[in-house]
Amino acid sequence: MELIDGKATAATIKAEIRQEVEEILAAGGKRPHLAAILVGHDGGSETYVKNKVLACEACGFKSTLLRFEDDITEEMLLHEVQKLNEDADVDGFIVQLPLPKHISEQKVIEAIDYRKDVDGFHPINVGRMAIGLPCYISATPLGILTLLKRYNIPTSGKKCVILGRSNIVGKPMAQLMMQKQYGDSTVTVCHSRSATLKEECLAADILIAAIGSPEFVTADMVKEGTTVIDVGTTRVPDATRKNGFRLCGDVKFDEVAPKCSYITPVPGGVGPMTICMLMLNTLAAGKKEYYK
Ligand code: GUN
Repeated sequence: MELIDGKATAATIKAEIRQEVEEILAAGGKRPHLAAILVGHDGGSETYVKNKVLACEACGFKSTLLRFEDDITEEMLLHEVQKLNEDADVDGFIVQLPLPKHISEQKVIEAIDYRKDVDGFHPINVGRMAIGLPCYISATPLGILTLLKRYNIPTSGKKCVILGRSNIVGKPMAQLMMQKQYGDSTVTVCHSRSATLKEECLAADILIAAIGSPEFVTADMVKEGTTVIDVGTTRVPDATRKNGFRLCGDVKFDEVAPKCSYITPVPGGVGPMTICMLMLNTLAAGKKEYYK
């Protein structure tokens, strides 16, 4: 069993990005600029956004954080999105999710100029990704693809089972794993209503768990030699920790790991890669790689 070290891989990639930024600046180019909108004080969102700002510093990017209280109206938030769309200095931006209930997340996502949508959530980017055109790919699936590639894990012709059908992870992951230019795998998507979930998991060469249910995947669901990717990051109460919680994956690591050829830990697996892929998308935005 080999542990897939997302933290180390992300650090390597961030150093590569920083190097490229230095080359861009030396050639007289512009420093990439990522902006983030954060609404309210959700603990998880605060942490994510703080880490995104730190990652920008590590990569040599400019970053701007725009904070609003959770009573901001939808109209005001859409106006802020419009301002970022029109700000020529901002190469890419994100609106951290979730948003307060009185604001339509879909409306906000669709208001973002797709050419600056470094989250890859806009329907134009989702659609272009689905048919294999150049576009921003959402960070978590892109991070998983990158880990599989950097660890030379074969995917072509393999059976890949994805647990979860979210717009951010499950669905795009399935699209990418099936496409010839990315995973080139045979893909099955299982979810909370799947009648044959365990049987499907047992047949998987690559199992990607993204259901948000702590320790859902147990040893009896995994065959010998499988590669297991754990996307779960549920906060479970833990009185022994300073912050009162620990992150728990979707995989019962201790009993599953001995059966795997490769496995990602939680934390330190997929998580650090996600923010790193946002940095890669921001670099692409700065270089106008996909859209003029
Ligand atoms: N909330 C949880 N993950 C994400 C993400 O990747 N992007 C944004 N904008 N919000 C999130």
